[in-house]
Amino acid sequence: MGGMACRILNPHGSRRVLVTKELPGELWLERLAATDCRVEVCQTSAILSHDDLIDAIGESCQGAIGQLTEPWDEQLFDAFARAGGAAYSNYAVGYNNVDVAAATARGIPVGNTPGVLTETTAELAVALTFAAARRIVEGSRFLTAGEYHAWLPTLFQGELLWRRTLGVIGAGRIGSAYARMMVEGHRMDLVYYDPHGNDQLEAHLSAFNEFLMDQGEDPVGVHRALTLDEVLNKADVVSVHTILDDSTFHLIDAGRLALMKPHAILVNAARGPLVDERALVEHARTHPDFRAGLDVFEHEPDVEPGLLELPNIVAIPHLGSATGWTREGMATLAATNVAAVLQGWPAWSDPDDIDLFLSEAPPAAAPSIVNATELGLPTVGPEDRAGDSRPARRSP
Ligand code: DGY
Repeated sequence: MGGMACRILNPHGSRRVLVTKELPGELWLERLAATDCRVEVCQTSAILSHDDLIDAIGESCQGAIGQLTEPWDEQLFDAFARAGGAAYSNYAVGYNNVDVAAATARGIPVGNTPGVLTETTAELAVALTFAAARRIVEGSRFLTAGEYHAWLPTLFQGELLWRRTLGVIGAGRIGSAYARMMVEGHRMDLVYYDPHGNDQLEAHLSAFNEFLMDQGEDPVGVHRALTLDEVLNKADVVSVHTILDDSTFHLIDAGRLALMKPHAILVNAARGPLVDERALVEHARTHPDFRAGLDVFEHEPDVEPGLLELPNIVAIPHLGSATGWTREGMATLAATNVAAVLQGWPAWSDPDDIDLFLSEAPPAAAPSIVNATELGLPTVGPEDRAGDSRPARRSP
């Protein structure tokens, strides 16, 4: 693999699969080995450049599992197709780093890993919300710096979120899981913006309201806003959960930050470029009561100068999906996408019902192929597997 160090598994396998980073767990490897794949895993922790990736693809490469940090663009899919590439999977649910149209034009299915990181990422967004609201990082730094000399009534006052207003932008899988955690756990009123709406979330919260009223508690408000600006105006916490594409780049810019309440909290555990980071630094600097909890950055792994010095910013290095269970599940789904396509199996029709693929007896299908329709791939789904027993949805 060019000059790059790699770990080779199942060396006599007849199909070469490139895996651009070491992945956790074993099941993913078993899935590829069972499909007669020779698996080559790059050993560097550095982000692979375009040239590194072309080198790693080499003359013959039938499958690849790539990372969200890599630009899988037209040129790379050209090199991959020339090498016999027939199946690509991103090791992520998001695939803004992949030129799916370029892959489709070359007949290459593109997989992703939905489902296994929904609650994991939502929990991380909750953690960031409270870290920002209750000034956890500021307090911790103060303590470790040896500055805590007396309990004081005025020390690090933060924001109480109980019964306040939660703003969610993008109510897909992760956004709606986050909304439920915050609304059910902290009785927050929800105002959300999503061009498609989310009937399931609204129905769920309406059942929750019946429960609250049965208990003699006041119901929570649930409102689908007609504009993004309405959410920014009304909410005490705004969490962004949209995909990143041309229409959502810098969705939160200087003008939109100015619409937020002075003490509002902005959370981003989705993609960095959704927020204009330079404008955020300026806003946080001039609005000391405003806070932000960030898991992602506009130019990852670089961070806008000045951001990390601000006391009202909590920032962590893209850890949304970082639990053992989820990261192993992502590896299993990515490998199963590649193994299934290489065997000519159909695509699974329901990426929201994916747990069966984590079991010892997965369906004979690729769990999530984002361009299955465009490629005209045959599909199968849960309805074809009636009677299957489902694996427990718990981390071990
Ligand atoms: C994803 O899968 O898109 C996440 O950002 C990884 O944590």
